Amino acid sequence: MTVKTIILAAGQGTRMRSALPKVLHKVANRSLLQHVYDTSKQIDNNEIIIIYGHGGELVKQTLSEIDAQWVEQQEQLGTGHAVLQADSLIENEDTLLILYGDVPLLSKQSIDGLLANVSTQSVALLTVNLENPTGYGRIVRDDTTDRVLKIVEQKDATKKQQGINEVNTGILAVKGEQLKLWIHRLDNSNAQQEFYLTDVIEMAVNDGIAIKTSQPEFIDEVLGVNDRKQLSHLERVYQSLQADKLMELGVSLLDPARVDCRGSFTALGQDISVDINVIFEGNNSIGNNVKIGANTILNNSVIADNVEILANCIIDNAIVGAGSRIGPFARLRPQAELAEQVHIGNFVEVKKATVAKGSKINHLSYIGDATIGSKVNIGAGTITCNYDGVNKFRTVIEDGAFIGSDTQLIAPVTVGKNATIGAGSTITKSTPDEKLTLTRSKQITIQNWQRPVKKEQ
Ligand code: UD1
Ligand code: CA
Repeated sequence: MTVKTIILAAGQGTRMRSALPKVLHKVANRSLLQHVYDTSKQIDNNEIIIIYGHGGELVKQTLSEIDAQWVEQQEQLGTGHAVLQADSLIENEDTLLILYGDVPLLSKQSIDGLLANVSTQSVALLTVNLENPTGYGRIVRDDTTDRVLKIVEQKDATKKQQGINEVNTGILAVKGEQLKLWIHRLDNSNAQQEFYLTDVIEMAVNDGIAIKTSQPEFIDEVLGVNDRKQLSHLERVYQSLQADKLMELGVSLLDPARVDCRGSFTALGQDISVDINVIFEGNNSIGNNVKIGANTILNNSVIADNVEILANCIIDNAIVGAGSRIGPFARLRPQAELAEQVHIGNFVEVKKATVAKGSKINHLSYIGDATIGSKVNIGAGTITCNYDGVNKFRTVIEDGAFIGSDTQLIAPVTVGKNATIGAGSTITKSTPDEKLTLTRSKQITIQNWQRPVKKEQ
């Protein structure tokens, strides 16, 4: 069975009050349309067609990686008119699945349930019962047989129909041959003068085709985004689902309401503990027995076993070796690669640098474009001066070196094995192994010096 998924994404989204097309707004740092696309991508033998309109060029540019056919709906004359734009792409034997680009949380299970109900004898419709159905199309059923007869839009509904709590989610599946027939018969003689896709339901019934309904597991799955309040609601729903998944996988969250996952994990070890306000972005891999302190952001990084990340760290595209301790207030930038048992302390920034086993950079340092050996001790306030304003140069610090506090290493420069650099030095030339090197001037005391006294006015 070839499924063709038509994602309707031409609507304006006026209520977002945004320069950005609605479907480009994000839940968990992924656009609404990307969510719908990613979910429909999980269906086998699926071809995706996106109906775009408002801000379409920007949508296409932003989502250029998407493998779909883009069909323009120049004027938004209704959901039926939107589907009609894809007419030439629909084959009789196809199964058509209609999704909305602004309904990001629909699950694969709900789609599977829907697709199980579609055949040449039946149209599949996803419905939901709402306490407050205002604004939605109502599912009108036969009083005695309970069969679906039609969908009536809010603005066309009688008082009695407005009392129906079962509503149309807009999501449906239908065979190509039938859909092609019906969408050509749609008219716009209704309260909104739009071509309603929902009118195909009554046409199906009149043609002797059954309407089979199914319901999603959660109502939030079928909620659309029309304004920023709904967007933030779906963000929280999504995050709460992510938190549940993490806990199911054995991660301890000190407060599941205060952790955000805006990406995925390639690996998650056992007994990871996550304090409050931690944000996971991109793709992270985390080993066993890792502790992550409060207010930390982890982006596209690899954290090995037994690592402790203290509060307020930013770890971005970095690798942290087993048994290392990071923070509080540390920043690991792209290509920071730490081996095992490395200590990175407060107000330390590491960029494009490898640090070998057991080295310590505990306070107030900048280490960039550097190769640091094992068992190196870098004193407080050490800076690798890697940049002359035009070019970048590397600093190499060999195994066992000791760098005194407040040292500047003017790259390119190498500090030899087991060398010691005296505090307050400005190192411009490579230093020998095992020796003490320092650049301080001698300390002197002025014997007859007196403090200045305030002059009389
Ligand atoms: C539609 C349904 C309604 C259902 C509700 C669920 C119709 C006639 N009504 O109503 O029964 O309860 O969704 O949310 O279908 N779109 C286009 N082109 C258009 C019009 C809409 O691409 O010309 C897209 C929108 O971008 C959106 C989706 O279709 O993703 C639904 O459009 P919207 O205007 O929100 O439909 P509703 O009036 O809410
Ligand atoms: Ca809507």
